Order: sequence, then structure tokens, then C-alpha cells
Amino acid sequence: MVEFTLPKNSKVKTGKTYKASEGLKNIKTFQIYRYDPDQPDQNPRVDTYEVDLDTCGPMVLDALGKIKGEIDSTLTYRRSCREGVCGSCSMNIDGTNTLACIKPIAEISGTIKIYPLPHMPVIKDLVPDLTLAYAQYESMEPWLKSSSADEPDKERLQSPEERAKLDGLWECILCFCCSTSCPSYWWNGDRYLGPATLLQAHRWIQDSRDDATGERLDNLEDPFKLYRCHTIMNCTKTCPKHLNPAQSIADIKKKMVERQG
Ligand code: SF4
Ligand code: F3S
Ligand code: FES
Repeated sequence: MVEFTLPKNSKVKTGKTYKASEGLKNIKTFQIYRYDPDQPDQNPRVDTYEVDLDTCGPMVLDALGKIKGEIDSTLTYRRSCREGVCGSCSMNIDGTNTLACIKPIAEISGTIKIYPLPHMPVIKDLVPDLTLAYAQYESMEPWLKSSSADEPDKERLQSPEERAKLDGLWECILCFCCSTSCPSYWWNGDRYLGPATLLQAHRWIQDSRDDATGERLDNLEDPFKLYRCHTIMNCTKTCPKHLNPAQSIADIKKKMVERQG
């Protein structure tokens, strides 16, 4: 068993190394963050796994599955759809927040380093605790509020132009790659709602069928909830669905100004 060396100032311990069998020609090394609440003396640490890419699928999630299935069943991560639509496999891969299921291994040269989403409490290994993020999402009441519908149970039609205003918003899968890449959210995540929740707030503000725009803007009129965005743009840069939460935040701020006057 060979151990690798972490930077001298790292507080993360060097963990175990799982070597591949001799003679394999297409080996890729993965260094993966490990945290187990039941083993406090070993936390946190980084384990190293050598994976045979000739018997592995093309995505980082395939490699995680191979490690868990064939090398170390204790490795813990979330996944469901493996199609980039459920948002559960978000993690920090090679320094960038993204979805493991749509990140090709071939795009990353050298050792692949995998950590949980930054600045969130960790439940186990690559699984962040998103309790606060979900509570913030709930706080903006992500459902249609319509008091003006003549027949509330009937279909509500939109013009093609009204429907087009939801493009770039409805595609959000709530993976929180954006919020956990935002320095403002790192430092003020208890009061700043963060780009994921604000993009979702924008989605309902933009909906022509929703009657609660004023109430929704009132709820965001706060020095922290909205205005802690300082246009850093990490959110838009990292979004694996190629959405633009920074633009949503700018649009909400613009609406705040417009309604004042
Ligand atoms: Fe994920 Fe993008 Fe939605 Fe943020 S905006 S939660 S990064 S899909
Ligand atoms: Fe953060 Fe994005 Fe604003 S990175 S500061 S939410 S533009
Ligand atoms: Fe669903 Fe990756 S497993 S987005």
C-alpha cells in the first residue's frame, strides 16, 4: 500500500491507497475526500483509488460506482438519474463544482481529485448537508400563487412570449453547484439566499400566471437575502446546466428599482 503526500498546510489526513492489479494498461488515479461521523479519529482524510478505465464507463460517476462496487463499498455519495436531471450527484471535481454523471473522465488530465460541495457541512464522504439550502428554497414559496384565476382547476394558458420568459429558469435542477461556489454564500449563507434559490425566485416572479410578484419582491427586500450578491459570477461559470443565476439576480434587483419609481 502506497501513500501520497498532501500539501504541508493541509488539515486533511492522508488516507488509504487502493492499488490496481499489476499489468493493467489504462489506470486512472482518483483522490477522494472521506469523512465518517462514526470514525472521528480518521476524519477527514483523502483516500486514493486506482481504477482500470478499460472496464469503467466514461463518466466520473461511473468511476465512483466502480470504486464502490469493486474496491471499497464504504464510499458514500448521492446519485439517482445518471442523466444530469436530478441534481443529486453534485460535487467538486478537479476544483470545479459539477455533476459527476455528466463529467467525462477523459476531460481531466492527471489525478482526479473529488471533494464534496464546498463550505457545506458534510454528512458522510461526498454527501453535503443541504438542510439549510432547502429551507431557503422553501422560504421563497416555490409554487404558483394565483388568486385571479376564474376557474383555478382549469389549465392556465400562456402566450409563446410569456412562456419564453421561463426558459433558462425551469431547467434548474437544484444541484446547488452555484450557491456553493459563491463566496458571498460561503460567508453569509445563513442570511444570503444564494444564487440557486434566487434563480428559483426569479422563475416564479417571471411567471405570467403568478399573482404574487409584489409579495415575492417584498420578501426579498432585505440587505442580506438578495443584496449580498456582489456579482462575483462564480455561480454562472460553474452551473452544469449552463444557466445564468447571476442574470436572474440582476433582473430581480432591476425589478426592485423599477417598482420604486
Ligand atoms: Fe444547479 Fe445551475 Fe440550478 Fe444552480 S442554477 S442549482 S448550478 S442547475
Ligand atoms: Fe455569488 Fe453569483 Fe452573485 S457567485 S456574488 S451569486 S453573481
Ligand atoms: Fe442525477 Fe447526476 S445522478 S444529476
